[in-house]
Amino acid sequence: MYKAIIFDVYGTLFDMSSLKKDMVQFDDAQATSISKLWRKTQLNHMFLKQIMQRYIPFDELTKEALRYTMESHEIQYNREDVNQLFDSFLDLEYFEEVPQVVSLLNSKEIDVGILSNGNDNMLMPLIDNSELGDYINTVISVNEIKQYKPSPASYALILKYYHLKREDILFVSSNSWDVTGASNFGFDTVWVNRHNELFDFNGQTPTITVNNLNEIVNWLEIK
Ligand code: LAC
Repeated sequence: MYKAIIFDVYGTLFDMSSLKKDMVQFDDAQATSISKLWRKTQLNHMFLKQIMQRYIPFDELTKEALRYTMESHEIQYNREDVNQLFDSFLDLEYFEEVPQVVSLLNSKEIDVGILSNGNDNMLMPLIDNSELGDYINTVISVNEIKQYKPSPASYALILKYYHLKREDILFVSSNSWDVTGASNFGFDTVWVNRHNELFDFNGQTPTITVNNLNEIVNWLEIK
């Protein structure tokens, strides 16, 4: 049995489609389009900055991605608009099974942690607002080493916090690039495929694929 299960944050525990719930100034189609391009740009900047070795904290990067997204949609904005939209990242909705699954893992003495490209300014309010804090024992942000996932050094941070062997750790993400990075580092991995998508194979495959987090509990035969 794994001794610790480490989750990715955005898209894995928290639903990125809830980004649009505070976009009351836009109609539904526009809010969907903005939230999708925003996330896509965020990830793109993240990969490029990692390659260029130009790390900036994820809150700044996320605002930078938002400015491009607004300009692409030909929407006028000011600094206050950016801050107001950015605040949605601090109050995302978790997927419905999350509290039950993380509390069950805790009760079985499996340590629950997170490893995110988000910095503490983003992660701490999100966890506080979601009230999941009691079940998440270790919050690890790559800000500590100023390298984004999927760099090997980012996954190595887990071993700094947990004095465990790699095989005692299970890494869970809905992002295929993150599963690839964690598998590449040597962790067993779960790909959470909620929308029946195709795994974007890039040299590594997940240990297992599930449709939601309950299936991890079933796979581990935790009752
Ligand atoms: C995370 C994102 C980028 O690290 O999914 O939480």
